[in-house]
Amino acid sequence: MEILYTRNELTKYREFIKNQNKTIGFVPTMGALHQGHMSLIDTAHEHSDIVIASIFVNPTQFNNPNDFLHYPVTLDQDLELLIEHKCDAVFVPSENEVYPDTNYQPYTLDIGELNSLLEGQKRPGHFDGVIEIVYILFNLVQPDQVYFGVKDYQQVMVIEKLIEQMDQNIQLFKCNTVREDDGLAVSSRNRRLSQKEREISLNLYITLQEIKDSYQKTDLPILKKSYIDKLNSIENIQVDYLDIVDSQTLNSLSEWNVTGKNLGILAVYVGNIRLIDNLLF
Ligand code: PAJ
Repeated sequence: MEILYTRNELTKYREFIKNQNKTIGFVPTMGALHQGHMSLIDTAHEHSDIVIASIFVNPTQFNNPNDFLHYPVTLDQDLELLIEHKCDAVFVPSENEVYPDTNYQPYTLDIGELNSLLEGQKRPGHFDGVIEIVYILFNLVQPDQVYFGVKDYQQVMVIEKLIEQMDQNIQLFKCNTVREDDGLAVSSRNRRLSQKEREISLNLYITLQEIKDSYQKTDLPILKKSYIDKLNSIENIQVDYLDIVDSQTLNSLSEWNVTGKNLGILAVYVGNIRLIDNLLF
């Protein structure tokens, strides 16, 4: 596996691949890699000739400085996992390499309501940071296909808008959420949970399953409130949001969507760790 540290190295590698008329699949990550990330790498091998990953903990997308400071960094294990999954190259830039010029104007994109709903509302500036870094990475890698997880459902919608705007013929693959055996969505942040917190965090998935099972059985506003109250009643759990929304618009539903898709979606603090998950039905 090629380990590329600079823009220059990446550009040379990209040109080398493009000259062979091979397609490039790209999997951007923030490291602390796990089976969820690896499922994106595996899917990328199915559709792309060459798979490039990136590892960069992007400071501009953290609205909470404490979360950024404590974001797990496990580079050696990450590289091992990527090699195991036959990733062809990984871009591991320093912050200076990504944002060298303090005078540069970050790329911005109007994502409309996505900026004021759910994650957009609760994490001001988060999607601006995601757009800024992904735009830079897409321009450097010039991928034919890109792979993102629906675990970050709203992020996928933002990336869809970015791709539309960039107009570079990038194909987006939306990959399913990988879960632990008990159902908890795999996440880099899970490593920061204590044993007790890990146990109670299972309630996120249980809640989403129960919401799905209640489809068309219970009045929606009552159902939402009862699950928010139920989760909040568990010690060390604090709901940031829990909603059942239209999967196309993320607008909160007051009645079940019988023709389209319903999405149960939540963000919950388990102790100090903020976990997100969603379930489409
Ligand atoms: P990160 O949280 O490292 O996630 C990288 C990719 O892995 C994202 O597309 C995410 O949705 C996917 N992913 C995470 N957990 C998953 C799981 N359990 N199953 C399947 N896919 C999963 O998302 C980011 O990094 C950053 O915002 C980034 C796009 C890299 C920009 O900095």
